Amino acid sequence: VRIRALGLELYREYMDYLSRNKGEYDILLEMLTINVTQFWRDLPVFKLIESEILPLIIYEKVRAGRKVIRVWSAGSSSGEEAHSIGMILRDLLGEEFSKFIISIHGTDIDDDSLLVAKRGVYNIKQIENIPQDYRRKYLTMDSESARVSDEVRNMMKFTKRDLFQPQKTGHYDLILCRNVMIYFTKEQQATLLMNFFDALNNGGYFVMGKTETLIGPAREKFTSYSDLERIYQKTKGSAA
Ligand SMILES: C[S@@+](CC[C@H](N)C(=O)[O-])C[C@H]1O[C@@H](n2cnc3c(N)ncnc32)[C@H](O)[C@@H]1O
Repeated sequence: VRIRALGLELYREYMDYLSRNKGEYDILLEMLTINVTQFWRDLPVFKLIESEILPLIIYEKVRAGRKVIRVWSAGSSSGEEAHSIGMILRDLLGEEFSKFIISIHGTDIDDDSLLVAKRGVYNIKQIENIPQDYRRKYLTMDSESARVSDEVRNMMKFTKRDLFQPQKTGHYDLILCRNVMIYFTKEQQATLLMNFFDALNNGGYFVMGKTETLIGPAREKFTSYSDLERIYQKTKGSAA
């Protein structure tokens, strides 16, 4: 898949490419772990989402007198990313939580992963990355497993959807599509990136995986919020 995505033909050409391109090992490793995901995957990204991105989204909502916050975890696998965002949002909103309508949409093509996401039950090893305070507040533990609390699960909606199906929903404030686009050709990535741009509200944020980069027309459209953490914004000044 990766050889085709790069437009190469031979295995030998790929080995040559691999030895010349530093980041390619990371990309290959990501690809070999198809449905693998984690809570708080890439901690610095989640720290920035927690300390800046979600507070900015909440601030803008309050300023505009709006109460709906919409998040899309595209390629959500078994739901860890969506649930991480849910716990952070729940925590940031504190007593104001009930005044907001939060919708976190996870989509994937893999039925088994979606089942796990919908159930919201994870084994002890899987929850290791969840900060202690969040574990205490938003998980019910027994000796072998942990269940995400109902108030967090109630924000979630997991549905089967191929990213290449025509997009019906939009108006998202935050879209995360991480460690998914590595499987696609450059042309497909360029198309998807523009779909994400269109699906965002003005001012909305888009988060990519650490080994992924903006390509195609989306490069001109998005404004960089943090190149290091791969966070981009659809700003009013973005090219129309
Ligand atoms: C490595 S996981 C990434 C999970 C999560 N986003 C993360 O970064 O931890 C990649 C996910 O993308 C999903 N996927 C691959 N192709 C897809 C497509 N065309 N439409 C929707 N999901 C897709 C896979 O089923 C898998 O669950």
